[in-house]
Amino acid sequence: MTKTVYIKTVGCQMNVLDSEMVIADLKRHGYEVVDSPNDADLLLYNTCSIREQAEEKTYSALGKLRETKARHPDKKIGVLGCMAQKDQEIIFRRAPFVDMIVGPGQLHALPELITKVDAGEGRQMAVSLGRKDGKQSLVARSHETFDPLRDPTMRPTPFQAYLRIQIGCDKFCTYCVVPNTRGPEQGRAPSEIVAEARTLAEQGALEITLLGQTVNSYRHRGEDGETDLAALLEQLHEIDGIRRLKFVTSYPKDMSRRLLETVRDLPKCSPYLHVPAQSGSDAVLRRMKRGYTIAEYMEMFERIEEILPNAAVSSDFIVGFCGETDADFQQSVDLVRRCRFKNSFIFQYSVRAGTKAAERLEDDVPREVKAQRNNELLAVQDEVAYDDNQKLIGSTVEVLVEGPSKKASKADPDAAAVQMTGRTHCDRIVVFDGNRRQAGQFLDIHVDDASSHTLIGRVRQVELVSIGV
Ligand code: 5AD
Ligand code: SF4
Repeated sequence: MTKTVYIKTVGCQMNVLDSEMVIADLKRHGYEVVDSPNDADLLLYNTCSIREQAEEKTYSALGKLRETKARHPDKKIGVLGCMAQKDQEIIFRRAPFVDMIVGPGQLHALPELITKVDAGEGRQMAVSLGRKDGKQSLVARSHETFDPLRDPTMRPTPFQAYLRIQIGCDKFCTYCVVPNTRGPEQGRAPSEIVAEARTLAEQGALEITLLGQTVNSYRHRGEDGETDLAALLEQLHEIDGIRRLKFVTSYPKDMSRRLLETVRDLPKCSPYLHVPAQSGSDAVLRRMKRGYTIAEYMEMFERIEEILPNAAVSSDFIVGFCGETDADFQQSVDLVRRCRFKNSFIFQYSVRAGTKAAERLEDDVPREVKAQRNNELLAVQDEVAYDDNQKLIGSTVEVLVEGPSKKASKADPDAAAVQMTGRTHCDRIVVFDGNRRQAGQFLDIHVDDASSHTLIGRVRQVELVSIGV
């Protein structure tokens, strides 16, 4: 009899990709995916630890399963991802009915753990070694990936795919839990990456987004020398079928001239860069241990403008980091105004156990001040994006159509003519009136209107030329 699995994924693109891999693996073991936990024999929660709020949401979702498990003791519950790695047994303590805890570097072990639970061997845990639990090579090996297993049905759209080129992070920004949960930075072998990209292209992927925590720091040393991201992009660019290549997230210090020139020279590379600044204040950046000053960030930014004048750049900011004064915060506001980011993800600082900031710095910005700064920075970012999007009105943009917009999906799921959504090469969101069959097509859209997050347009009619009979 086939067994059923439900998976709930929160957090970053890495988690979306991990869930795709887990499902591909479980399907091979006879599982079928269902959309509701009520119909599932196996309930999986792929979790995020980046901020406290994300963790509390997961714990509250798990809390609701207490009764479910009491009524259906045969249902198995697994907690995967960064929270599994970070909290380990704490999860068993807070939610004793959980059967499995699996860190992001141990996901390949899941089928075996399920077998053990089914065999009555009790609850199971597979996590990677901590950063200080052994030799660097041993710790690195305990964070494995199993990426070649792909399942296009699990993707948000079949023609867009993520491809991991790097795991872990070695930057150790003082606020961040990722170097602990995802382990040491390791670049995957280019041959593996290219082979996987070929598989994706054969499965119909038109757009591939390369993933890494600091993706532009990617390096792999092999027999034929060292490969960096620029060299990797050159190899991937050769693959037929792929039309767009993106990469996220970039680290400001590693945004080399060579990489930018490669993006400029390879037409499939999207002129879109996500290069989080995190703060506009040198004092805050120093406490965050980001490794650059604002002068250096601006130097990098000007390099982007010089080599890729039409690129869209987006950023992340943390507001209310330890010791952030009003004056520091105003410098973040200034940076948004100077750089005019396409968009910024803005977060309120959240203390994470096990990080340097948690050990050494005081979380001294009151909650209300964090919330207020968050709103203010968002308003400035929206204003900048609104003004820049207005300038696109009247132009024509090439859009990869993703599917019905959120509005359309809610309205009438069966209607043929619906509002569709897609993205430009620069990653701008575009909505237009169309039909479902256009999903996966590249269309020229004439921009009629714009808000701070969205361009609104219509399909440009191809001019009919009279051939005069
Ligand atoms: N608190 C708030 N935001 C954080 N981020 C990372 N760690 C924290 C934290 N402890 C943000 C950073 C990062 C993004 C993915 O999440 O801006 O770029
Ligand atoms: Fe976290 Fe900094 Fe690494 Fe990004 S670069 S994952 S913020 S430690």
